[in-house]
Amino acid sequence: MTSNTPNTFKLGKDLVVNRLGYGAMRLTGQPGNFGPYSDWEAGEQLLRRALELGINFIDTAEAYGPGFNEEIIASALHPYPENLIIATKGGINKPAPDNIQADGRPESLRNSVEASLKRLKLERIDLYQLHRPDRKVPFTESIGALAELKQQGKIRHIGISNVTVEQIKEARNIVEIASVQNRFSISDPTNIDVLNYCTQNNIAFIPYGSLGAHPLKRGAPLANAEGILADIATKKGVKPNQIALAWLLHYAPNIILIPGTTTISHLEENIAAASISLTSEEMEMLNQVK
Ligand SMILES: NC(=O)c1ccc[n+]([C@@H]2O[C@H](COP(=O)([O-])OP(=O)(O)OC[C@H]3O[C@@H](n4cnc5c(N)ncnc54)[C@H](OP(=O)(O)O)[C@@H]3O)[C@@H](O)[C@H]2O)c1
Repeated sequence: MTSNTPNTFKLGKDLVVNRLGYGAMRLTGQPGNFGPYSDWEAGEQLLRRALELGINFIDTAEAYGPGFNEEIIASALHPYPENLIIATKGGINKPAPDNIQADGRPESLRNSVEASLKRLKLERIDLYQLHRPDRKVPFTESIGALAELKQQGKIRHIGISNVTVEQIKEARNIVEIASVQNRFSISDPTNIDVLNYCTQNNIAFIPYGSLGAHPLKRGAPLANAEGILADIATKKGVKPNQIALAWLLHYAPNIILIPGTTTISHLEENIAAASISLTSEEMEMLNQVK
């Protein structure tokens, strides 16, 4: 039996997202995703190719660069096609490659939204995500600020990232939450409770590190996987990392993928994962991978 997975998810009940998207974070200076991407033109080409291949969901953040990642998206793709959804995030200050500080103060979030609107050349951000809760600021205050920005029309939908189920519930008491972005992959199912809660409540779940990568290191650990992942990949004539992505797409219909890459060949490989069908037997076998 082959299980079919839907190609799209309706984010916030109105934005039709192709479930295989793109995470742009690595189009920044290295190390530390800091500064402008060293080959700006190649980065622009990759972004344009992503759209040609059918991607309509791009994830970025103010903290990537900082600022430069949003700028390269605008310089490559603006004026944007109507169906393109750019998801950005705020709530982190990054004054140096190895200095990342949460800043969830309402005033900081208001300033960050204005700055992202300017860099992205948008009048409204389709999905604005709180990058991570700030322990120094009551979570409800950060969410309240985003709710106000939504009311003012600067944000269409609100997402949250690096959160617990309790925090999602707390946020939903204040405003509708359209998406949650936590780390999750076939090799790291730590956030399974958060994913399950999102699936039950029809909230988009956007796993980061879907290829198992560490955000500050290069390379996808699953690319050379051994065991079940590699066996199924060999049988189907594809790469293990493609099976890892296909597994996620089959796992739950509210999962939207944002694998990150700096090369067009990897981009093409990752997108092709959306066409891989896994049988229920294969899914059962893959569910054992940790
Ligand atoms: N919310 C958060 O706190 C948070 C944290 C981290 C990341 N994110 C988001 O999640 C996105 C993805 O995260 P990520 O880039 O850290 O992890 P990832 O998607 O698991 O892996 C990306 C790494 O895998 C390599 N890769 C990609 N496709 C490949 C392929 N087909 N074959 C072999 N290697 C491949 C890339 O190298 P190449 O460039 O050589 O392809 C890159 O080093 C980011 O862009 C960002 O938008 C969010």
